[in-house]
This record gives sequence, C-alpha cells and structure tokens, in this order.
Amino acid sequence: MLIAVPKEKTPRERRVALTPDGVKALAKLDCEVAVEAGAGFEAGFYDSEYEAAGARIEANGASLLGSADLVLKVSPPTDTETGHEIDQLKQGATFVGFLRPLDEPDVASRLAKQGVTSFSMELIPRITRAQSMDALSSQATVMGYQAVLLAAESLGKFFPMLVTAAGTIPPARVLVVGAGVAGLQAVATAKRLGAVVEAYDTRSAVKEQIESVGGRFVELDLDTGDSEDSGGYAKAQTEEFYVKQRELLGEVAKKCDVVITTALVPGIPAPRLLEESAIKGMKHGSVVVDLAAANGGNVAVSQADELVVVRGVKVFGPTNLASAVPFNASQMYSRNLVTFLTHLVSEGKIELDLDDELTSGPLLTHEGRIANERVAGLVDGGNS
Ligand code: NAI
Repeated sequence: MLIAVPKEKTPRERRVALTPDGVKALAKLDCEVAVEAGAGFEAGFYDSEYEAAGARIEANGASLLGSADLVLKVSPPTDTETGHEIDQLKQGATFVGFLRPLDEPDVASRLAKQGVTSFSMELIPRITRAQSMDALSSQATVMGYQAVLLAAESLGKFFPMLVTAAGTIPPARVLVVGAGVAGLQAVATAKRLGAVVEAYDTRSAVKEQIESVGGRFVELDLDTGDSEDSGGYAKAQTEEFYVKQRELLGEVAKKCDVVITTALVPGIPAPRLLEESAIKGMKHGSVVVDLAAANGGNVAVSQADELVVVRGVKVFGPTNLASAVPFNASQMYSRNLVTFLTHLVSEGKIELDLDDELTSGPLLTHEGRIANERVAGLVDGGNS
C-alpha cells in the first residue's frame, strides 16, 4: 500500500502530517511511504531525513495524490495550482486528516462523490483506548501554550512578579475562559511564566483540573446545570445564561491584563463570552486572545487572523496557532496518525471493522456515501 504525504497547500499551514519517525513506524506495517518534496521543510524536517527513514521523495504533488492508496494530511483538501486535491485522488483511495466535517460538510460530499473513504481526525472518539490518537487534544495543547506566548509578547508588562533594585513589579493577571485541553495548557503555561491565573468553565468537573495546574477557579453566580455530554464536551446553555455570563465575565476581565478564551460547544458557533463593552472596560494595553475565532469567536470584536485594537486593548483571533509551533505540533499529530493507522492497517492493507467505534466513529465517507449521519444531515439532500 502506498501512503502519500503531500505538502500542505493551505496558506500559513506549516505543519506536516508525518515526520521521519512516522515513516519508520509505518514501514513496520508493511507500507511504502512517499513524501512530496519539501513537505516537512517548514516544520523542520528535511527531505533527506525522510529518505533516510525509508520514504521516497516525489516532486510532483498531483501525481503523488493520484497514485496513493492512502493520503495523510493535516488541513482539509484544498485548491492547488494543478486543481483541487479531492479531484486528484483516485477512486477507492483513503484520506485521513482534519476535515472540519461539521463546519465544511461539502468537503464530505465531494469526497463521497470521488469514491474516497475518508477519516476525520476531529471525529476520533474520546475514549481511553483512543487517547493516543486524539489529534484534537494534541493540537489544542499546542494552541493553549502558544496563545499564552502570543499574549506575553504583546503585553507591555512582565508575567512574573519581579523584586528588583528598581522596585517591585506585580505579576500579570491572566483569565482563561474555557478550561478544556487548550485552556488547561494555557493556565499551566501562564502559571509557569509567573502570572496569577484564574479560569472558568461551564463544566464544573474541571475545577480540580484548573487547580492542579496552578490556576484558581473563578466562581460565577450561574446555574450551569447538566453541563457536560457523554463525550466530555460542554452542552449549549440558554441565551439567558449567556447574557448573564457575559455580564459577570466582563466584571472579572476588568481586573485582568490578559484574557484567553477557548470556549467551544461542538457543532454550533462558539458561545459569545465578552461583549465590546467588556473589552472597553479592560485596562489600556491589556491583551485578549480569542482561540475560538475560527468558530465565530468568543469575543464580540475579534476577527479571524486579525489584530483588532479597541481603546488600547489588543484582541487577537488566531485560527491556526498550532502551526506556530510546527515541529512539535507535527510530531504529536504524526504520532496520533501512526497510532490510528496501527489500528486500521493489517499486513499492509486497510481492514475496516465497522463494528469497532474506533473505526466507525471517525469514518466520514465510504462507498460513495457520507458515513456520518450528523454530517449527512447538514448536506443538501443528505446522501440521496
Ligand atoms: P472544546 O474545545 O470543545 O471546548 C473547550 C472548553 O470550552 C470546554 O472545556 C468547554 O466545557 C468550555 N466551554 C464551553 N462553553 C463554555 C462557556 N459558555 N463558558 C466557559 N467555558 C465553556 O473541548 P476540549 O478541550 O476538546 O475537551 C473538553 C473535554 O473533553 C476535556 O476537558 C475532557 O474532559 C474531555 N476529553 C476527553 C478525552 C478522552 O477521554 N480521550 C480527550 C480529550 C478531551
């Protein structure tokens, strides 16, 4: 079976789906790997390292895609100079990558029409057995870390308390809203840099997790009720809840130098957590990083991949922070893929056991149809 690793063509995407170590691991599964020339360069992996690991380097991206039995990517298929990547895949091929299925269901339609079996890394079930395949978590870890560095670099203040001959400088105050994987990493990173860190989440179960990485749980006078679904994700709250939450968070934000928001509810736009009035109420020079900007944003004024300045408060809306640490992000993603493929591939072939949730969960398209019912429901006419 030929596994292809194309160069990512999405603008500003610096990660690569497979590292040279990943090539070695896949060789053990009796698979041949071909890597598009320069695919790992931005992430810090050279063609010569892939060759040394046993991969073949292919100069022509379109012919690489056309010949592959299995394609490994980070970002969803995209337009290239030689046409759309989906059109270049052969019928019967398998595609594995982030496919944003709930946000871009038309990609699934197109893959189904092309006769491609696809697996969406966003749909890997959050079960213990799948933890080492959980690419959403690995990349969210990178994003949470990098969000803090972005804030620290942009804030005109130190994060730690400093006692110097020139006086004592108080520590920066950081508020993290949404303490899932990215949020917890943000709390831990801001704490390591010496800031005073507070965090809030609608899932009360995270209180202990926030405290375990050095943060203080912010108590808000809100009834979160049954806030967590069976997959560990947050449930949507009522509009009345969000109105009150915005009001309360605005008060907390006033006292902070940095606010990092990461709140998401699967399948719907990100909940609005901070109004423009709350941003205007923050101290001049404060920094807000809205990690939910790709999903509509937690902050009223944030713009995807733009810096918006409101009365001296800098609001960032980065949509691909994982790409800012491309070496480690690729390394983690590659390990997630290798573990997933170790589950899927037997004696050099993909064996689909659709009774296994680890196979059927992330399966997005198969045999000309959208396999995921929720995604099929989002497409005009579904599978008909
Ligand atoms: P996510 O990216 O979907 O959401 C981020 C955070 O935003 C969540 O913690 C959510 O509760 C929070 N949120 C949503 N609405 C909010 C609001 N109005 N105000 C404040 N916070 C709000 O979630 P993520 O980070 O992907 O994972 C969430 C949880 O899933 C983890 O904390 C964990 O419990 C579980 N999980 C389980 C795994 C496993 O068992 N393999 C792997 C990864 C996560």
